[in-house]
Amino acid sequence: MFFAKKKDLIGIDIGSTSIKLIKLKGAKGSYELEYVGIVPLPSEAIVDNTLMDTSAVVDGLRKLFNDLQIANLRDVASSVSGNSVIIRKITLAAMSAEDLEEEIQWEAEQYIPFDVNDVNIDFQILEPDDIDPSKMFVLLVASKKDIVNDYQSVFAEAGLKLLLVDVDVFALQNAFEMNYDMEPDEVYALVNIGANMMNLNVIKGGISLFTRDVQMGGGLYTEEIQKKLSISGEDAEKMKLSASRSSSPDLIESIYRVNETLSLEIRRSLDFYNSNAIEGRITKVLLSGGGCKSLNLFESVATKLALPVEVINPFNNIKCDEKKFEKEFLDEIAPIMTVAVGLASRRLGDK
Ligand SMILES: Nc1ncnc2c1ncn2[C@@H]1O[C@H](COP(=O)(O)OP(=O)(O)OP(=O)(O)O)[C@@H](O)[C@H]1O
Ligand SMILES: [Mg+2]
Repeated sequence: MFFAKKKDLIGIDIGSTSIKLIKLKGAKGSYELEYVGIVPLPSEAIVDNTLMDTSAVVDGLRKLFNDLQIANLRDVASSVSGNSVIIRKITLAAMSAEDLEEEIQWEAEQYIPFDVNDVNIDFQILEPDDIDPSKMFVLLVASKKDIVNDYQSVFAEAGLKLLLVDVDVFALQNAFEMNYDMEPDEVYALVNIGANMMNLNVIKGGISLFTRDVQMGGGLYTEEIQKKLSISGEDAEKMKLSASRSSSPDLIESIYRVNETLSLEIRRSLDFYNSNAIEGRITKVLLSGGGCKSLNLFESVATKLALPVEVINPFNNIKCDEKKFEKEFLDEIAPIMTVAVGLASRRLGDK
């Protein structure tokens, strides 16, 4: 065959509170939502980004596929994040992608704090160096083999094939880019706020300029409410989800305190980028992840950063049949599905 059809993959984002599944049909620019699913995970299933209770994850995966009646589908794209991944922009002598493929292992050695034998190495050639054309910029991505192997075996146990391992921050970028027309001069800060992790990616013109994962997220609200009101974690989580501006002052105070903590942390990370922003300072912030739905967090981030803020809708540019998917449901889960949508847009053979 001359033009092998690129294989569709199911995007599966294993978060610390739930597993999200997205399957898209079609190609770039004309995607259609085919399947969407989400299943909660018990709280100890994933700790510090490590699959602790693999059977809970396997059960969750099986349940998703059974509920959606897609047991015939197997090919999956998923992602890793946190301290199991190192992302570096490095400068190398200009060379072809083929040559770099051969040399990358050796080059990478100098830039990553782990033994190169313990990591999977991937790269993307970004652009030639403007000042010195004999050099080029390369994005180096190293993910720890043991974590990737854990993922492989969990998916295998659930009868699935993990064919592509991405990184949360890049899946996030993909989801944004497939859903919005980007202004070439804007510098966007994408901030995905999960339960235990915030993934940040500063991009301009489709290029990632700065990434960072911070171990902090929506779980902080639950902890704060639990302490303040002396209630169980479960009750605290419920109170958080139902909080509104007319909730009790104690509840609101706990939430606002965490809003302050999270938006300060976002500002600190983005200031770090801005302090050395050769490509220009950040002009817009885009939030996603379940944590971004927290009461007044949006306003808190906008005030603290003094920048326009928006919430990403990962279904913005995706055809969603209203007969198959209730609009209210999609609106409700949209921010939570962002990484999974980005993963579902990947095709086998993509770099
Ligand atoms: N309506 C809401 N209001 C406030 N918080 C919410 C709301 N909906 C979800 N959350 C919070 O969002 C978090 C879950 O978001 P998400 O699914 O993006 O995280 P995750 O992927 O499971 O976690 P992580 O990526 O950090 O491992 C939880 O802390 C949850 O309480
Ligand atoms: Mg997540």
